[in-house]
Amino acid sequence: MKKYAVITGASSGIGYELALQWANLGYHAICIARRGDKLTELKEKSPDRIHPVTFDLVNFNEYPRLLKEIEAITPYIDVLINNAGILINKPFDEFSPDEFDRMVNVNYKAPYFLLQGLLPFIEKSTLKSIINIGSIGGVDNTDKFPGLSIYSSSKGAISTLTECLAKELSVKNISINCLALGAVRTEMLSKAFPGYIPNLTPDKMAKFIVKFILQNDQIINGKVLQVAGVEV
Ligand SMILES: NC(=O)c1ccc[n+]([C@@H]2O[C@H](COP(=O)([O-])OP(=O)(O)OC[C@H]3O[C@@H](n4cnc5c(N)ncnc54)[C@H](OP(=O)(O)O)[C@@H]3O)[C@@H](O)[C@H]2O)c1
Repeated sequence: MKKYAVITGASSGIGYELALQWANLGYHAICIARRGDKLTELKEKSPDRIHPVTFDLVNFNEYPRLLKEIEAITPYIDVLINNAGILINKPFDEFSPDEFDRMVNVNYKAPYFLLQGLLPFIEKSTLKSIINIGSIGGVDNTDKFPGLSIYSSSKGAISTLTECLAKELSVKNISINCLALGAVRTEMLSKAFPGYIPNLTPDKMAKFIVKFILQNDQIINGKVLQVAGVEV
C-alpha cells in the first residue's frame, strides 16, 4: 500500500529536505509552498514520488480548492508536517498590524485549518501522525531573543495547540506532537540573523524528524519536545 506525507513549506530549508527524505523512503510527498519553481526543482529529484502543490497557506478561502487538489492525489494521508513558517525580526514597537497578521496566519492559523481540512484524510491512514514544527523560543522558560516577540509567541501558540488537540484526536488514534527546533542553517535564519551560521544543517534536522515519526509509532503524544543541535 502506498504511503503519503504532506509537508508544508517544502520549497526550501527543512521542508525541502523532509520531502526528499520521505521520497527516498518510498513515501509519496505532497509538497506545499508558494514558490512553484522551487517545487518543480524538487520534483526533478524524485519525479514519481514528489507531488508539488503551489499554494499560499494564508488563502483560507481557497482551502476547498487545496483539499480537492490533494484528493486528486490520494484519499488518505499518513503523515502531516506543518513546517511552513515565516520570521520577521523587529523590535516590538516597530511591528505593524499587517506584519502581525502575516506571521500569525502562517505560523499558527494555517496549521490549524490545514489540519482541520486534512483530518478526514488522516483518519483513513495507518500511521496517523501529525508534527507541528515549533521553536525553542516558543517553549515556556527558555531563553528569549529581542526582535522575536511575534515569531516566538506564534510558536508558543502552536505548542499549546498541540497539547490541546492531542486530547481531541487521541480518540481517533491520531498522534500529534510539536518539535520545538533550535537554530538550523536555513534561508529563514540567515535572513533574520545575518552572519550567524549554526552547526545544524537542514538535512540533518530533517533526518531526525523523519526518524522520530517512524520510531514514535504513537507512543509519544501531545508533547512539545525541544530539538537543538550542539553549538560551540
Ligand atoms: N531555521 C531555524 O533556525 C528554525 C528554528 C526553529 C524553528 N524553525 C521552523 O522550521 C520551519 C522551517 O523553517 P526553515 O528554517 O526551513 O525556513 P525556510 O527555508 O525559510 O522555509 C520556510 C518555508 O515556509 C514556506 N512558506 C512561508 N510562507 C508560506 C505561505 N504563506 N504558504 C505556503 N508556504 C509558505 C516557504 O515557502 P514559499 O516561500 O515558497 O512559500 C518555505 O518553503 C519553520 O516553521 C520555522 O519557524 C526554524
